[in-house]
Parts: sequence; structure tokens; C-alpha cells
Amino acid sequence: MQIERTIKETKHTIEQWKQEGNTIGFVPTMGYLHEGHKSLIDVAREENDKVVVSIFVNPTQFGPKEDLAAYPRDFDQDVLLCEKSGVDLIFYPTPEEMYPQGFCSFVDMTGLSEELCGKSRPTHFKGVQTIVAKLFHIIPANRAYFGQKDAQQLAIIKRMVKDLDFDIEIIGCPIIREADGLAKSSRNVYLSREEREQATVLYQALRLGEQAVLDGEQDAWKIKQMIINHIKTKPLARIDYVEVVEFSGIKPIEKIEGSILVAIAVYFGKTRLIDNVIML
Ligand code: PAJ
Repeated sequence: MQIERTIKETKHTIEQWKQEGNTIGFVPTMGYLHEGHKSLIDVAREENDKVVVSIFVNPTQFGPKEDLAAYPRDFDQDVLLCEKSGVDLIFYPTPEEMYPQGFCSFVDMTGLSEELCGKSRPTHFKGVQTIVAKLFHIIPANRAYFGQKDAQQLAIIKRMVKDLDFDIEIIGCPIIREADGLAKSSRNVYLSREEREQATVLYQALRLGEQAVLDGEQDAWKIKQMIINHIKTKPLARIDYVEVVEFSGIKPIEKIEGSILVAIAVYFGKTRLIDNVIML
């Protein structure tokens, strides 16, 4: 397995692989890798000749009061996981390599990025799109893999690729959960024992909503209330949002029909957790 820290060397390797006729699967991450990331790597491994993982805690997607400095990092563990999973190259750049002095170009979007997480994290998706666009130029893969855990991010990246004509297929992969249903996340390490116990309410609440829809409930407001009331049974939970939206456009809906995304963001102490169910 190769580890590259510069854009130049990474581009060079990818170019060589492409010339040799290899297909390339790419998994962008911020590191502190867990089973959720591994599931994306596993699919990429199955579908491509070469697999590239990027590990970069991207400063531009963190707000001024967010957890950039505290974001968990463990590069040695990440290397082990990648090696075991058959990754061919890790791109592990420094912030200076990605954002050299004078950097001032950004990729942004209207509409889609202003809903859900965009309301409480107004600059977040601009940072995500900018870094992903840069990464797609450095690593022009055939396919890139994203988790449905970040459903809005997935929808935004799909839209960006379409709008800006990136020649890369975006593949969405299902959410990997702990045994008790909590979605795996690098941020789960921030939770105290009590918060961790109460955080299981997120998936329980989503399951309740999902079941109600399957039973024929079509009123989005009622589904939302059901989920909110269930989350409120846990005293440490503080709701940021509970929304029912149409999946591809992330627009709030009143009546449930077609593909929908039920998305939630909830604080436990300072830790903000997100989760969702997609019903196609
Ligand atoms: P990060 O949070 O490290 O996540 C990297 C990828 O792993 C994302 O596509 C995310 O949706 C996926 N993922 C995380 N937890 C998952 C889980 N429990 N099940 C399935 N997939 C999961 O998302 C980012 O990094 C960044 O925003 C990035 C796209 C790398 C841009 O900086």
C-alpha cells in the first residue's frame, strides 16, 4: 500500500494506473476510520482494480465554533484498517498542501445545501463541495463512494457532479450501525456513557416514523411529531431538526409520496449526531 502526502505524486500514480487500463474506486474520508468507512472501502474493492482512500480533516467544512481542533485522529490505526481492507493508496495531505497561501476559490450551491444541516451549519457544504471537487481533480476515479449516513452530503455531491460535468460515478452505500442501532460515527467517541445510552433513541424514533409510513400514514407533520415526541423521552437529547423531505431535492414536504428522506440532527451535550432513513 502506498501513502502519498503530495498532490503531484498522487496525480502521477493515478495517471499511471489509468494508462495501464485499471479502474479506480475512491473513498474520501476525514480519517478515524470505522466499520462505516470500511463498508465503503469493501464495495470499492469489489468494483474496481485500484482503491484510493483520502484522509483529510478538512478545515473549510467546520464552522468557527465547531470541533476542528478536537476532531479525533489516529493515522496509524487508519493505515492498519486500510491495509487489511486491500487499499492501494492513501492520500494524506497536509492543510497547507490542500489550501496553500492565497487560496480563495470555492464551490457552492443554492437550495439543496440550505436545508437540514445547512441551516445550523451555513458554511459546511461549501467546504465539503470545495474539498470533494479538489479531490476529484487530484484523483479522477471511475467511481466514488459515499455513505447514506450523510444523506444530504450524498445528494449534494450527486448534484454537483451532474451540474459541473465531473466524469465520475457516485455510489451511495447503506448506513452501518452499532448492535443497538446507533449509526457508527467518528464523533460517537465524544459521548459520555449516559449520553451514549440515550443516543439509541435516534434510530428507535426513526424506526417508529418509518413503520408509521409503511402502515399508511401520509401526513409528514404527524410523522415528525411522532419522532420528536419519542426523542424528547430522553432528557439529554436536544433536537436541532427533525425533517421529512423529498430525497433528491431535499425539499420539505407535507404529504408523503415518492422517495422520501426522514432526517434528524440531535445534540447530546456538545456532540451533534445525525441519522436518517431513506424510503424509496
Ligand atoms: P467522514 O465523516 O470521514 O465520512 C467519510 C464517508 O464515510 C462519508 O461518505 C460518510 O457518509 C461515510 N460514513 C460515515 N459513517 C458511516 C456509517 N455509519 N455508515 C456508512 N457510511 C458512513 O463525510 C466526510 O468524512 C467528509 O465530509 C468528506 C466527504 C470526506 C469531505 O471532507
